[in-house]
This record gives sequence, structure tokens and C-alpha cells, in this order.
Amino acid sequence: MTQPDGQNTTLDNLLSENRTFAPSSEFAAQANATAELYQQAEQDREGFWATQAARLHWDTEWNQVLDWSDAPFAKWFVGGKLNVAYNCVDRHVEAGNGDRVAIYWEGEPGDSRAITYNELQREVCKAANALSELGVGTGDRVAIYLPMLPEAVFSMLACARLGALHSVVFGGFSAEALRSRINDAEAKVVITCDGQYRRGKPMALKANVDEAVTATPSVEHVLVVQRTEQEVGWNSGHDKWWHDVVDRQSDQHTPEAFDSEHPLYILYTSGTTGKPKGILHTSGGYLTQAAYTHQAVFDLKPDSDVYWCTADIGWVTGHTYIVYGPLANGASQVIYEGTPNTPDEGRHWAIVQKYGVSLYYTAPTTIRTFMKWGSDIPAQYDLSSLRLLGTVGEPINPEAWMWYREHIGNGTAPIVDTWWQTETGAIMISPLPGVTAAKPGSAQQPLPGISAKVVDEEGNQVGNGQGGLLVLDKPWPAMLRGIWGDDQRFKETYWSKFAEQGFYFAGDGAKYDESGDIWLLGRVDDVMNVSGHRISTTEVESALVAHSTVAEAAVVGASDATTGQGIVAFVILRGGTGSEDSGDSATNALRDHVAHEIGPIAKPRQIMVVSELPKTRSGKIMRRLLRDVAENREVGDVSTLADSSVMDQISAGMKSGSADE
Ligand code: PRX
Repeated sequence: MTQPDGQNTTLDNLLSENRTFAPSSEFAAQANATAELYQQAEQDREGFWATQAARLHWDTEWNQVLDWSDAPFAKWFVGGKLNVAYNCVDRHVEAGNGDRVAIYWEGEPGDSRAITYNELQREVCKAANALSELGVGTGDRVAIYLPMLPEAVFSMLACARLGALHSVVFGGFSAEALRSRINDAEAKVVITCDGQYRRGKPMALKANVDEAVTATPSVEHVLVVQRTEQEVGWNSGHDKWWHDVVDRQSDQHTPEAFDSEHPLYILYTSGTTGKPKGILHTSGGYLTQAAYTHQAVFDLKPDSDVYWCTADIGWVTGHTYIVYGPLANGASQVIYEGTPNTPDEGRHWAIVQKYGVSLYYTAPTTIRTFMKWGSDIPAQYDLSSLRLLGTVGEPINPEAWMWYREHIGNGTAPIVDTWWQTETGAIMISPLPGVTAAKPGSAQQPLPGISAKVVDEEGNQVGNGQGGLLVLDKPWPAMLRGIWGDDQRFKETYWSKFAEQGFYFAGDGAKYDESGDIWLLGRVDDVMNVSGHRISTTEVESALVAHSTVAEAAVVGASDATTGQGIVAFVILRGGTGSEDSGDSATNALRDHVAHEIGPIAKPRQIMVVSELPKTRSGKIMRRLLRDVAENREVGDVSTLADSSVMDQISAGMKSGSADE
């Protein structure tokens, strides 16, 4: 939505948003989480978290809930021991729920598989035995480069069972991105597959691994799941088929209890530099908050609900709300391999109808895509099983929120807008579905047990109706324990801005509305959010300047009606900008180059060839001005530019469309 002066009206929409939707009395009466939780947590925060932790099985009880003496390195449930995989699998079998379906897996071509907790236990044990045979032990790292296949879940849980750390790398990342992650974590084993079905076609995956492992000295074995049966390259030195190694293993495996602070996984995420950060999560606190939030925010009733989180396993949402939270709670859930428009745009709703999905969790970008496809598509399906909807990954605009409620939630399902990050490990700010009167577009309040504030640059809490920076002012159980191999970067990135106050700086702007509810306003650093994926401007700039034709590059995230933000790059070519160099074929080659370096998700929407970039006298690129151009706005204040005519040239070039995609 654009006003006559070209300003985006989202902020104004937020200001005037005064619709609220209280839960129905029927929903409230049966809800897991009640208003008392806020009081309990307020009165005794650590006692509250101890109660949540007690929902898990501990082999040894902890003797201290929180040790914050070595801040910002937290220890939760000190002295406690548990096995995360046992908690997610075996204990449900032992409780008599082995016949309950854990995973309804739906392949894109329409094949499917229902996996009970009994079967999940056998598969995880076999995978754990296989990894042990391949030499994986406690503390070792395993890279998992798999799409949405059951084996991805088996592999993650097998690692957890052995006390090995998994590092799942999103299947959309390139060979180069995979290689740098394997090397940073020094992974011993890589688990992948031949290919995956996407958009109705088998797509090769293993080829990327083959390219990556040509320069990964730590890798001893590559374990390959067979999915598409397509031709693959084979290195007999380290490649092994999953079915050859895993299928013959014993389906019995005794889990060992690990310390509550034993590392569970590394997950790489983009920061403000070109090098991704390996976010480190540990066991007891992480699982406690994953299980608690999944039960309270999604109102899970494990014996009657069918839950579906549409995230990819390669992102933190897939880790916490497909694997650890739901399985710790004994949920039955759908996992879907493919794209939402294969074979047609009704696929998600066909799946909801087929399995009777009752809890559905997706991203605003997906909701906006569904809006674009039209409400007549979901209207063709029986969606009456849906009783709660969730969203995550970026701010949801009130229009999309209303559409979601109306056309997917039958006008009644509560919507939980959940704010959190790879670093927070689990949901931090969200309505409680049976308690909160929901407001379209606002994540509203920190969950019971969580403390968050909106503060000014000095760290003072701002008043209602005012904006500032989002901070987390008290430690929480699922918080990251560091950046893999880089304690200094951990301290600098998250803890230095408000070092005096001891606040964690989230990197997000936020505001309080007149009633004190929190509205997230997007990143305040150089991180873009494209379809809910975090990509740093620097990462894309580094990829561009790595190309032989590029001298300099500046990248901005421009608002995009579907993807939230789109990547727009401004590049200066080497050795002049002759027209034959700056045409479509040159910019297309650059877009492909970025896809190759990082992955298709980082492909710029638009590349503009320019002869200068707007810089301050000290040489800092003024991205704000480039964003004005990319969003077709009147260019703002140029007085601090070293050469104020630069923006005129760029704007003129943009208008003539000469360097457009
Ligand atoms: O900017 C916030 C946005 O996504 C960032 C975290 O990205 P990532 O670590 O990839 O994790 C995404 C899934 C948890 C945040 O810093 N974000 C996430 N959820 C929301 C959000 N922005 C607004 N509203 C949300 N509900």
C-alpha cells in the first residue's frame, strides 16, 4: 500500500489498528494455557521454569534452575541429566502411546507414510547404531543436508541420542554455502539424499554435496538416502547408501543421559557480516522451552490434534516446531515434502482435509501467496478441522492476518503471531490462544516466563505509543549458548549494545501501542527478511564482488508485496560500464552467480548497474537512499553525500529501466 508521497503505510496501519478478537468461550474453557500462568511466572520465575522442565523425563534431577554468574553464558537446570531423543520418542512408547502416529509424511507426488511412535523409536535406534558404526560419538558434528523426508527427523534424533551435534543445512543452499558450514563445524559425516521432488520434478541434491566435499577435510562419510532413484555421482571412498548401512542395524539402542548443558545442535544463520554464525543450542533448557511453548501457544492436545508446521527442517522453526517441541509433547503431525502449488494451488488444503489438520503454523509470505491465488481455492476444501492458526518469521500485515482468519480459520480460529529467532530457540512473544484478545498484526506480549522490552538507544524502556529497539532483559531457557567457535562475536553481536544493562539485543525494531502491546517493525541492522529467510546484505554483496565483472556492490532489502522484502543490488562493473556489459545477460549472469554462491533464496530480484554508489564523505554506503530508489520513493536527504549528483544518476537509470532485470 502506497500513499501519494510514496511512503509505505504499514506503520500507519499499525497505529490505527484497533480490532481485537477474543477467543470463544469454548476455546478458552479447554485451553492448555490460562491467565494464571502470567502470575505464576511473575511471582517465581525460576520456580515456573522448574515446573515446565518437570514435564520432561530427567535421569538426574537438576540442583539449580539457572546459573547466570558467567553471563552471557547461561546454564539452565544445572546438574540435571537427560536424553533429548528419549524424551521425544521412547517415553511416549513406554507410556503406552507407541501406536499413535508421530508423523504423517506426505510426499509431493502423493505417496505417503504414517510413522507411529513405535516405528519412530526403531528408526531412530537404527540410525543411531549406524552413526556409531561410522564413528560418530558424543560431541562430534554431523551435517544434515536433507529435504523434508522422515530420514531428516530420524537423523536429527539419532544425533541427539548419541550426544552428537547436528548441523542441518537448508537444502536450498548451494554447494559453496554447504561447504563453508561443514568446514566451520568440522563435521565428520554428511547425510543427504539423491534428490527431492519439487514442483512435480525430481531435483538433484547429492550433486551439491559432491561439489562441497571436494574441500572438506573433516568429512569421513557421506550417507545417502534414496528418494528419487535418479542417477548420482558416487565416490566409493566415502559415499554409502542409507539403506545399506541403516537398514541392517539393530532397532534397539540404549540412550545415555547427558548433562543439561550438553550441546544439542548448531544452526547457521545470517548476521551482519558475510560469514554466517553457527548458533549453538544445548539440551535441557532448550527442550523445556520448546515443549512448553508448543503446548501452551499451539494448545496441543496430543491424543486428538493433528498439527502441521509448514517450515523447512533446515530452519530453526523446523528444529523447534517440527522436531523437538511436537515430539517432546507426543504430537501427531504432518510433514510435507513439496511446494504448495503442486499439483495445484489447493495442495495445502487438500492435506488439511486428508489428515484432519487442527493446528496449522506457517509464514506470512505463504499466507500472502495464498491471498494472491484467491480465496476460492481454500473454499473448495473442508477446513473445519482447523481450530488454531499460527504465523512466524516476519511481521504479518493486518490484511493478511484477517484473510487468514476469515478464509482458513473459518472466522473463528485464534491466530498466534509468534515472534522469536534462531538465537532464542523457541517462541518468546505471542498471544496465548485461550487468553489473549488477539490484535491483527501484533505479537502482543512476552510469554509467561519470558521478559522483553522496547527500549531507546540508552536502554530506557519507552512509553506506550512509542518505538525503539527490542531487547530481552532476562535470560531464558532456550537461549543460544554461543556462536560456534567464536565467543567474542557472540558477546559483540548480542550483548555489547546494552552491556551496561545486561540486555540481549535482538536486532529488531519494535513499538508499544497505546495499550502496551508489542508490534514488531522489522530488522534494524543489515539483515534482510526474504520470505521469512534471513539473508545479510553483506553476504550478497560479498558474493557479487566475488564475480570477476564486479568492482563494487551495495545490496538493500526493498519491500515486496509477497516476500516481505526483495533483494535489490546496485553494482559497479569493472573496467567501465559499456552497454554490452551491463545488459540483461550480464545481470542475469550475476543473479545466477549469487544463487550458486549462496543459494536460490539469495538471488537478487533486481540488479542495477550504476557508475557510482552513494557514499558519505567517510566512505560509508548510504543504503537508505538506495532503498528509496528500490522502493520507487522520492530520494531522501542527500546532504551528507560526498557527491550529491550520484543519486540523480541512479534514479534516472532506474526510471529508464536500462538495468532492470
Ligand atoms: O526480524 C524478526 C523476524 O525474523 C527474525 C528471526 O529470523 P530467524 O532467526 O530466521 O527465525 C525465524 C523463525 C523464528 C527476527 O529477528 N521475525 C520472526 N518472527 C516474527 C518476526 N518479525 C515479526 N513478527 C514475527 N512473528
